[in-house]
Amino acid sequence: MTITAPDIAQRRELKTPIPGPRSQALAERRSSVVAAGVSSTMPVYAARAAGGIIEDVDGNTLIDLGSGIAVTTVGSSDPRVVANVQQQVAEITHTCFMISPYEGYVAVAEKLAELTPGDHAKKSALFNSGAEAVENAVKIARYATGRQAVVAVDHAYHGRTNLTMALTAKAMPYKKGFGPFASDVYRVPTSYPFRDPEGMTGEEAAQRAITLAEKAVGADQIAAFIMEPIQGEGGFIVPAPGFLAAIAKWCTDNGIVFIADEVQSGFARTGEWFAVDHEGVVPDLVTTAKGIAGGLPLSAVTGRAELMDSVHPGGLGGTYGGNPVACAAALGAIETMEADGLLDRAKHIEELATGALRDIQAKTPAIGEIRGRGGMLAVEIVKPGTKEPDAALTAAVAKRCHEQGVVILTCGTFGNVIRLLPPLVISDELLLEGLGVLADAFAAELA
Ligand SMILES: Cc1ncc(COP(=O)(O)O)c(C=O)c1O
Repeated sequence: MTITAPDIAQRRELKTPIPGPRSQALAERRSSVVAAGVSSTMPVYAARAAGGIIEDVDGNTLIDLGSGIAVTTVGSSDPRVVANVQQQVAEITHTCFMISPYEGYVAVAEKLAELTPGDHAKKSALFNSGAEAVENAVKIARYATGRQAVVAVDHAYHGRTNLTMALTAKAMPYKKGFGPFASDVYRVPTSYPFRDPEGMTGEEAAQRAITLAEKAVGADQIAAFIMEPIQGEGGFIVPAPGFLAAIAKWCTDNGIVFIADEVQSGFARTGEWFAVDHEGVVPDLVTTAKGIAGGLPLSAVTGRAELMDSVHPGGLGGTYGGNPVACAAALGAIETMEADGLLDRAKHIEELATGALRDIQAKTPAIGEIRGRGGMLAVEIVKPGTKEPDAALTAAVAKRCHEQGVVILTCGTFGNVIRLLPPLVISDELLLEGLGVLADAFAAELA
């Protein structure tokens, strides 16, 4: 059998207004059968995708600056992912690793042990979604320490299940009306250099968080401190240098499990395998998902062998966790990251995109800050001359980009951040064209 990924010309072309007639017809069908609580950023229905392009059902080709929220790091339908999945799906679709185990699960765990930070002995457990990985990391930390409290930070996003809603900071749309939430979760301030007091160092911000955790909970009651090393939904917030290391050290000194939630920032996205690698920080547990498997649902908790092994047999798992097809996809995606140099590619994207964003900023006083690492970049939008968030301008700029065929996402506690998460295989030309559309959108809104 010849196995091919879709061959889609890597160029933006709009054949109809956005959304086109077929997308509109699908929206109509959807409105009677899909729950309103599940929303979509763009009213455009995808037909195929590859590289940096999503082709819609009307034949429009859109520049993808979102990667399905940081998932298709290797591009949609990466040839190695396609080949591995097609072969695997024809051999075994499912046996359940808890019933009849198979090699792919073991091979993914070996890769996770190799690639995650630290040279200590590591073990993994595989799941389906990021939220499920976070839930399980907390379960493991609680079991291993015999403690219950969990500390999370401001602007955190960890998922939509009950415990992860409790860990997530923002009420709308993630939490409002969905309580009661899991108990024994405490929140402390993070390091948010753009909004912290001028000149606050990472160490000072860490001390602010630690003091609050010690006073509000008590270090000896805390099972885990969980945070995203670069915050995703909360606004692509990069903590000041030294913050992560100071928190990790305090955790180690106090027998607290430091969980790095790398669901969005992990797997080559930031130009290193994991965002903590930029700071040389070694977490006790790492949660991964999204980019790990090129678009198939797979997630993992990886960590110190003694923590992972503390849980009794049967205490971790789930019917589909580490499904063979998802594992085959992960092995293909990781091979592409390694063979095609995607860490370096992410660094190149950072350089190229940051340059283009700085040119936009020079003409756009509403851009308060450009930040991020690798292919995880953002601009925070404010009322000029202030730090007052401008969510309306952010939404209007994003909408203009969508109308021009550029898939761009927003985020942030205040809804005022435009984030860029292109597939790392996007061409320079497409990336710059997408950012050109962003520049035009700002210019048109501010004219
Ligand atoms: C940092 C982080 N953790 C957890 C999650 C939840 O992942 P999932 O949507 O796969 O449950 C996300 C999703 O955006 C995330 O960004």
